[in-house]
Amino acid sequence: MPSFEAIAKHYARSDLLQAISIGIEKLGKTTATVALEDLAPVDEFHIGGSLATRSFLDQVAIAAEDHVLDIGCGIGGASRFAAQNYGCRVTGIDLTAAYVETGNALCYWFELQHRVNLVQGNALAMNFPANTFDKAFILHVGMNIEDKELLAEEAWRVLKPDGVLGIYDVMRLGFEELAFPVPWATVSESSSVASLDEYKEALAKVGFEVVSERNRREFALKFFENLKADSAAAEAPPPLGLHILMGENAPIKVQNMIQNISQNRVAPIELIGKKSLLARRGDRGFGCRQ
Ligand SMILES: C[S@@+](CC[C@H](N)C(=O)[O-])C[C@H]1O[C@@H](n2cnc3c(N)ncnc32)[C@H](O)[C@@H]1O
Repeated sequence: MPSFEAIAKHYARSDLLQAISIGIEKLGKTTATVALEDLAPVDEFHIGGSLATRSFLDQVAIAAEDHVLDIGCGIGGASRFAAQNYGCRVTGIDLTAAYVETGNALCYWFELQHRVNLVQGNALAMNFPANTFDKAFILHVGMNIEDKELLAEEAWRVLKPDGVLGIYDVMRLGFEELAFPVPWATVSESSSVASLDEYKEALAKVGFEVVSERNRREFALKFFENLKADSAAAEAPPPLGLHILMGENAPIKVQNMIQNISQNRVAPIELIGKKSLLARRGDRGFGCRQ
């Protein structure tokens, strides 16, 4: 299992804001004219981009008065998406300082800085009081976190009673080794991909009632097919895209993901859970760590 420093190092890129600024210039836009949709190819670092975000977050049922937590927010694409589309307030937390810094700068471009705040921190020891958030979501983060139970426990702690947690992660389907590198890890030893059952067990153990689940395999294969077709048709990478975050070997990571998903080694899966005091297992007691 890699250290948290090693995970942050895996993601960190220098001059990210500059790279994104150059990208929007190439699109013929400025920081004043750029739209949230223009940034989606680079700031939504999960399978399916903003299309996936909308379909996933609709199930989290975010209301305008909600305070929402984006756990492992990256550069904050989904946080800004939620604030703009549902009118809520969002706090994002991420291990990678460069992502948080870049993400907060991007919030200013859209005048969302008063409703979206990203902070550097660890999902397994969040510096938020208990019962703070109405909703929380995790987008493609669990593959970097071995202790799924602690992840679920922390989410449970910071959610208000009846709070909702949405998870959209890449999950293991069998025992076959994955092709590496993948977007979240260079080698197998740095990957913490787990099965749907392991997620459900962790959620149930800490007191989440799973209310729905959905396998996004077909959607993911279509997404990657389109991505591959677009890059084959283009002479150069698009002005804004995940290559900015994933680095030079982005095409190999994409190819490996196509292979891993099409051969049913993994699939991106959504899980929606509801915080429940009744579902919390006895050995934890009610309200421990509150
Ligand atoms: C694939 S990116 C997804 C980013 C974002 N959720 C999105 O969908 O655009 C995974 C993110 O998880 C973050 N991460 C990994 N382990 C973490 C931890 N223990 N605590 C907080 N963030 C973590 C990484 O820094 C990275 O930004």
